[in-house]
Amino acid sequence: MTEATDRATNGDHRHLLSITDLTGDDIDRLLTLTDSFVEVSRRRMPKVPALQGRTVSWLFYEDSTRTRLSFEQAAKRLSADTLSFSVSTSSVNKGESLRDTVETIEAMGVDCIVVRHRSSGVPHQIAQWVSGSVVNAGDGWHEHPTQALLDCYTIREHLGGLDGRRIAIVGDINHSRVARSDVWAFTTMGAEVTLVAPPTLLPPDTAGWPVRISHDLDAVLPEVDAVYLLRMQRERMAEALLPSLREYTALFGLTRRRVERLHDKAIVMHPGPMNRGVEIAADVADLPRSVVVDQVRNGVAVRMAVLFDLLGSGGDLGRDLDGGRADRRGRGPIPTDRHLPNPVAVPQVSICRESGPERIAESGEPGDGTPHRPDVPTDVSTEGTR
Ligand code: NCD
Repeated sequence: MTEATDRATNGDHRHLLSITDLTGDDIDRLLTLTDSFVEVSRRRMPKVPALQGRTVSWLFYEDSTRTRLSFEQAAKRLSADTLSFSVSTSSVNKGESLRDTVETIEAMGVDCIVVRHRSSGVPHQIAQWVSGSVVNAGDGWHEHPTQALLDCYTIREHLGGLDGRRIAIVGDINHSRVARSDVWAFTTMGAEVTLVAPPTLLPPDTAGWPVRISHDLDAVLPEVDAVYLLRMQRERMAEALLPSLREYTALFGLTRRRVERLHDKAIVMHPGPMNRGVEIAADVADLPRSVVVDQVRNGVAVRMAVLFDLLGSGGDLGRDLDGGRADRRGRGPIPTDRHLPNPVAVPQVSICRESGPERIAESGEPGDGTPHRPDVPTDVSTEGTR
């Protein structure tokens, strides 16, 4: 493990790469910080000078609507400067390598890079190249830590907390970075998680995951306080894993009839984008018990909390909200007595220096330790060097 990864996983919180780097206390602290930013977001002028003089940039190699926009909104509400980067209109299209791209962005004086990439482990790799902060905004099938935080916040908002709550995560678990991050966040906070999916959409080995498994959504629904639906992530599937979408919807879709099996206070969640009519019926998505819009709204405040935590003055929120700025260095480490195994361990990424973005290979999908289908076609085996 390199020095930078070491730091990232030892809890000095220069980066947010994996939800498993956070203890329950860390998550609690970030959710409490989020409360302050929810309050800021409700103001007539929802802006504070907390990150004045700091610059945040995005490096999104995958499509995104809500994650990218909410990071941008969060940075702007904290008064950070933002440098927008679009892979589709950048020199990446001229064959520039990931490392050259990252170094170019950092040379512009960027303090934090928010990364989304279709290969697992890329944010960890970038964290080894830069001196600033890196936030994982979704890497392959691996992790999506800020989604997990906003989901925790939304559950806390609607159900009063996570401890003892029963949550079903339903659908394409195997290809879902959201599911991987959510399982660890929810269970770290004391919730009981049941994964509901056909066997072909479950990870090959869930031993070590602190969850129950079920293939019977109808049986699980009456028992849960929240049902969390996932999209069929077909862009990550290398083969047909279902006889048909119609059959999937018949067995695992949250239909109007099925939603009646939930108890009165139970909520319906989805990270978006939703495929209405597949995993969730169009009218179910709009029921009062559906909190999908709250998840998006909370995403901004949670990401404000994360950016403030990484780049702000180190916890003196009152001063930062009032315009003071201080260097974050010197802040003591946050305890990391994590109590869960880490089946979402970071896969190895191999990157060829003189390659374009297509030439990034994974040597292991998270969690199961078994061979995997890589996210991208690859002809690379050279370790990422220069
Ligand atoms: C998810 C993602 O991109 O991982 N969406 C999101 O970030 N809100 C889930 C998905 O793509 O299905």
